[in-house]
Amino acid sequence: MKKTVFLLLLLVGVPLVMFSAVVGEIKSRGYFLVGLSADFPPFEFVNEKGEIVGFDVDIAREIAKKLGVELKVVEMTFDGLIPALLTKKIDAIISGMTITEERRKVVEFSDPYFEAGQVIVVRKDSNFQPKSYEELVGKTVAVQLGTTGDLEVSKYQGIKVVRFDKFTDAFLEVRAKRADAVVLDSATAKAFVEKNPDFVISSPVLSSEHYGIAVRKEDQDLLAVINDTLKELMEKSIYNSLLSKWFE
Ligand code: ARG
Repeated sequence: MKKTVFLLLLLVGVPLVMFSAVVGEIKSRGYFLVGLSADFPPFEFVNEKGEIVGFDVDIAREIAKKLGVELKVVEMTFDGLIPALLTKKIDAIISGMTITEERRKVVEFSDPYFEAGQVIVVRKDSNFQPKSYEELVGKTVAVQLGTTGDLEVSKYQGIKVVRFDKFTDAFLEVRAKRADAVVLDSATAKAFVEKNPDFVISSPVLSSEHYGIAVRKEDQDLLAVINDTLKELMEKSIYNSLLSKWFE
C-alpha cells in the first residue's frame, strides 16, 4: 500500500517538478513580475493617485491570484519589454501587446484576449483629417517606438516617422505642431481623445490585431496557467465586468 502511494506520488510529482520550472520559481519567490508600459489607457496607465491601473493590470492580478502570489508591476518603455522578458527581469508582458509573427519568433503568446486595430489621431482644429496611411505621405507622424503603429507607418518611404518611448510624448509632439498625426491602437486612441478634446480620430480602424500575453518560449507551465486564467475569466464573465469597468 505504502509503496503504491509512493509510486503514485513519484508519477505525478516528478513531471510536475520537471515542467513547472518558472511557476515553481514564482511561487517560492512569492510574486509574479509583469512588465508593461504605463502610457496606454485603459489597459495600463497612471491614475490620479499615482498608481498603475487598468484592464491589463486587473488581468495580471487574476493570474497572480491563480498562482497564489502577489502581483508586482514593472514599468518600462514598450520597446524594452521583450528584451526584459528574455533576460528574465520579468515573468510576462501584459501591455496591450499585439500578437505578431515577428514577435512570435522570440516569445510565446497566450490565447488572444482583446481585439484592436490602428487608427490615426490628429488635432481637431487642423484641416488635415487623414483617413488612410497613404494620406500621411509627406507628413510627420509620431508613434511609440516598436509598436505595430510604428511598423505600419514605417513601411511608407514618404512618411517622416518620429518615435517616442511613451505615447504621451507622441501626443505632445502633435499638440506642439511639430508632428501632424499619431498612429496608435483604437481603444487607447478613444480613451485619449475623450480626455483630450483638442484631438480627434480621423480614420477608420486600419488593421485587425489581437492582444496576447507574452512569456518566454520555454515557460510552457506559466503559459498554461495564463491560458487557464483567461478561459476562467471569460467563462465566469469576470472578463465582461472588467470590460465594462474599463471601457465605459
Ligand atoms: N498594440 C500595439 C503593439 O503591440 C501597441 C501596444 C502599446 N502598449 C503600451 N502599453 N504602450 O505594438
